[in-house]
Amino acid sequence: MNFLPSGICFYLSVAACWLTSRVDSSWWYMGTLGSQVMCDNVPGLVNKQRQLCRQHPRVMQAVGAGVKDWISECQHQFRSHRWNCNTAERDHTVFGKLLLRGSREAAFVYAISSAGMVHTLTRACSQGELDTCSCDPGKKGSSRDAKGSFDWGGCSDHVDHAIKFTQAFVDAKERKERDARALMNLHNNRAGRKAVKRFMTLECKCHGVSGSCSVRTCWLAMGDFRQTGDYLRKRYNSAVQVVMNRYGTGFTSAYRKFKKPAKNDLVYFEDSPDYCIWDHESGSVGTGGRVCNRTSRGADSCEVMCCGRGYDTSRVSRTSKCECKFHWCCAVHCRDCHEEVDIHTCKAQS
Ligand SMILES: *[C@@H]1O[C@H](CO)[C@@H](O)[C@H](O)[C@H]1NC(C)=O
Repeated sequence: MNFLPSGICFYLSVAACWLTSRVDSSWWYMGTLGSQVMCDNVPGLVNKQRQLCRQHPRVMQAVGAGVKDWISECQHQFRSHRWNCNTAERDHTVFGKLLLRGSREAAFVYAISSAGMVHTLTRACSQGELDTCSCDPGKKGSSRDAKGSFDWGGCSDHVDHAIKFTQAFVDAKERKERDARALMNLHNNRAGRKAVKRFMTLECKCHGVSGSCSVRTCWLAMGDFRQTGDYLRKRYNSAVQVVMNRYGTGFTSAYRKFKKPAKNDLVYFEDSPDYCIWDHESGSVGTGGRVCNRTSRGADSCEVMCCGRGYDTSRVSRTSKCECKFHWCCAVHCRDCHEEVDIHTCKAQS
């Protein structure tokens, strides 16, 4: 199914059409369906995805429930930027038209959504919520490290299983398209999946005579998703703009010819819009009404955030807990303090 107005390619150049004439409605939409994920009411799934969806209803429920987590991580990472990972209400594309462009932001969303799915499934797996997987069976037995030998005994998070499923499910769509944008998405999906794996750490419990730790039981545990979010945000900052190679089989850096981007780089084709104003065509919602910081010099400063349009200031009174005292034992008593603060919000375009 194609949700773009079919005439759009006549208005755009052929090259732009080649990059944008695809549906960006995807499994992301499952997040808005709550526990009602029914494989046939998610628009934009390809056959292979529908098939996996029908075969693994519990997995799909977990995936749907996890969508809000990676979206909120995305919004956290971009909270003080013009583009703030905003979602479009009641829109099956979730992010509106914005990601139809092969921009740096699209690269980030594809990466963090794949990472999010891996994280969600790994967690669900370890918590025994899925019947198709459990703790990583490969992490049993003993190993050695600098501190001596230890047993693999705990329940290691089974990240490889989640990576495999995520790859099969998410990439199925791109494997059907096989155009430049599909290659971009595949690359970023992979970078996202792998990012989660970087933050697996060995957690151990000591046994042995009076906690001497001569015997340890260890397991691999996944880090907080914030770590993956922070990491991908850095990859976003250093994302590589690419062009297709002349065989159409892969890409090279747009500015350093013949240099291939690394596997963990995020890659993108097109420059981003400035996200300053509401623009139906690009899907930008603009920064009108966004809160800005008058004393900051960064992306959240009123100059940058409001794109020179200026801002409105309103004084609001806030109540917060203050002068908290600890009373033995165990209560904390606070006073309610009122303070007046100025809130600056960007003017909308006139
Ligand atoms: C505004 O920016 C300044 C300077 O970066 C910072 O110290 C301050 O905490 C920010 N204020 C808010 C409300 O974020």
